[in-house]
Amino acid sequence: MVFANVADYREAARRYLPDFAWSYLEGGAEDAITMRRNRAAYESIAFAPKVLVDVSTVSTHTTLGGCEAAWPAVVGPTGLNGLYCRGAEEALARAAHAAGLPFALSTASTSLLEDVRAASDGALWLQLYVQQDRRIAEDIMARARAARFSTLLLTVDTPVTGQRDHYARTGFTLPLRWTPRLLWDIATHPRWLAKVGVHGVPQLVNLARSARLGAGIEAQAAALGRQMDTSLAWRDIAWLRRHWHGKIFIKGIQTVADAALAFRHEADGVVLSNHGGRQLDGALSPIDILAHTAAIAPRGAEILVDGGIRRGSDIAKAVALGAQGVLLGRAPLYGLAADGLDGARGVLALLCNEFDICMRLLGCTSIAALGADRLAAHGRVLSLLSQATHAAPLNVTTIAPT
Ligand code: FNR
Repeated sequence: MVFANVADYREAARRYLPDFAWSYLEGGAEDAITMRRNRAAYESIAFAPKVLVDVSTVSTHTTLGGCEAAWPAVVGPTGLNGLYCRGAEEALARAAHAAGLPFALSTASTSLLEDVRAASDGALWLQLYVQQDRRIAEDIMARARAARFSTLLLTVDTPVTGQRDHYARTGFTLPLRWTPRLLWDIATHPRWLAKVGVHGVPQLVNLARSARLGAGIEAQAAALGRQMDTSLAWRDIAWLRRHWHGKIFIKGIQTVADAALAFRHEADGVVLSNHGGRQLDGALSPIDILAHTAAIAPRGAEILVDGGIRRGSDIAKAVALGAQGVLLGRAPLYGLAADGLDGARGVLALLCNEFDICMRLLGCTSIAALGADRLAAHGRVLSLLSQATHAAPLNVTTIAPT
């Protein structure tokens, strides 16, 4: 099979996975309006390349969250990756390292963070979900620190799981309920059954270890869902600071006002994200608040953005609008599901190559040269940039403490 682009990997993943696993990977919340909006936002942005620029030497190198990055991307955190292949997070970490990128491990990972560290010497970040029993998060952070994870992403867009209609359709629950529909789904995907299914339902081992839970996905899923701390609020950033001495990014910021609050609470950065359209359907595309957020960000604060990145040119658009880099969500998972470690590597190699080509075609020789002047200033871009131009610089004293 030829994989010419991310979409080819996506198609191979769709064919390989049972419906329940494919819907978990791909599906958006409710009517998937936000998920579609994420893609449409990138498609509506046009470039304004500069020609006759010497692009014989181009550097895509940058730093993100204090880590070296060969190009401006991080392999983002995704839960339950063991649904797609065995040793999934180890494979993602290796693929990210080979591509020169950091890898962010989810609290809902199906491999132990210690095993992921053993598999890769690359830059590792920890994504944190906080349970009511704060000792669980404190323990995960302590383990991650010991394993040399450097940057923390606190995900804040998931006090509850978004309404995902496809769960009802495919019968996806944790633990899995062995309905005739699910059995048929699995039986009709024999390659997945032989490689993944025969080993049983992947466990949320990381969470289980810190929550002192045994094997058994039921209790683990409850810890991730019903026992999530829905009282988590801005005041808790101070608690986080006491337990994490590396950089802290707030992931799931969806308004400029909340980005300002994150900076006011001395977050090192924000990830503008609607969780890939899996949470609040109807939310804006993060691209829509990117330029405005960049305009109010204090010096040194970083802005990452995610949702709908499927081409190297999408990364260029995000950087041109003021992001330091992007998080890759589904794209590496398509590769992982389609072809394990090789597939994850393949997706990252494609995106890296596309980004390099895009830089040269835009007449940019470095990340610093990739600014808003490489975007056609009409329609969407004009309105995004004019919001940014009129934005007042962040005046921390005017923001009420919460
Ligand atoms: C996610 N995402 C996510 N985010 C997070 O902070 N913790 C998590 O455990 C997960 N789990 C997860 C599972 C799956 C299957 C997907 C697709 C996504 C959200 C993820 O980090 C990122 O924000 C989005 O995936 C970005 O959108 P795209 O690139 O998938 O369109």
